[in-house]
Amino acid sequence: MTPKIQSAYLAAEGLLDPLLKELDGAVAVHDQLVLSSQPARQAHWAQNIWENPVVLKIDSINDAAKQLKSLQRNWYLYSHTLHRRAKLILDKLPPVNFKPLIFPSSLPKVPPGTFTLLDENTLLASTKCSNPFPNGEAHFVEDKNGPPNRAYLKLYEALTLIGRTPRPGEFCIDAGGSPGGWAWVIQKCGAEVLSVDRSPLSPLIAGLKGISFQKRDAFTLLPEEFQREGRSVDWLFSDVICYPEKLYGWVIKWVESELCKNFICTIKFKGELNLAIADKFAAIPGSRVLHLFHNKNELTWINRATPGGNKQ
Ligand SMILES: C[S@@+](CC[C@H](N)C(=O)[O-])C[C@H]1O[C@@H](n2cnc3c(N)ncnc32)[C@H](O)[C@@H]1O
Repeated sequence: MTPKIQSAYLAAEGLLDPLLKELDGAVAVHDQLVLSSQPARQAHWAQNIWENPVVLKIDSINDAAKQLKSLQRNWYLYSHTLHRRAKLILDKLPPVNFKPLIFPSSLPKVPPGTFTLLDENTLLASTKCSNPFPNGEAHFVEDKNGPPNRAYLKLYEALTLIGRTPRPGEFCIDAGGSPGGWAWVIQKCGAEVLSVDRSPLSPLIAGLKGISFQKRDAFTLLPEEFQREGRSVDWLFSDVICYPEKLYGWVIKWVESELCKNFICTIKFKGELNLAIADKFAAIPGSRVLHLFHNKNELTWINRATPGGNKQ
């Protein structure tokens, strides 16, 4: 008997192996989508997690659309086979806006569900997906002139997912900030930013109001330095290229100091992926560790305070 599918996980392109290592109960893999007999769990390497998907037997395209509409209005498609049939079903459903977002934008309050065709007469559909972007693909209207590189898209995505951006009056640290993509985003949001790197910022970024720069090892920047001056830090960003353990040792000092409220840090991996360190970041109260669409061989650790002051 085929086991009941209780969850499904979409891997980012080229990252199926680390996802499979993280998961128990995988019963089938359809291109990048892993079906599991176990209840949904946080999987760091999943680009989208489908909770409690249902298997629908369909006898026509119209029947498929009717059954999906009876579950909810808005749907995205994950197409891995029978592409034409799947697209014809999608076309029978109410239109959903897939356009690239202009940053900053808010995401839909009720994210669309996702469906896929398993075979000609079988659909798998979930009304509860973890990622509000279609198949986790966070597309933004790009700025070809302002930022010095494409790293800014990672920050666009992380800030859009948490639904909050640095604000005027807030002070941010941008560790490993050169050449300045993240500093450019933070400055555009109206906050003040101190960028720290061994390499300089691009001159255009360095000249922007609200951006300052220190050429130093980011790991020498500790909360005591700010506590002594009676300064608070609203956001700590890091995109430093370093071993995950080194980043962990540094951020934990900041977390324990309770000086900083919000963290967005890239955990970079070289060669063999260390799942244990990702779990260690995830175990810090209030944390999420996820693979962003704009992450490569890296994960993003997000830890943030709610407006009321508690960690979420
Ligand atoms: C991926 S790049 C950062 C890109 C940047 N976030 C942006 O948006 O332009 C990584 C940076 O980490 C810096 N880096 C590596 N080790 C560092 C350290 N110990 N202290 C400060 N910066 C470091 C490198 O010089 C490099 O500029």
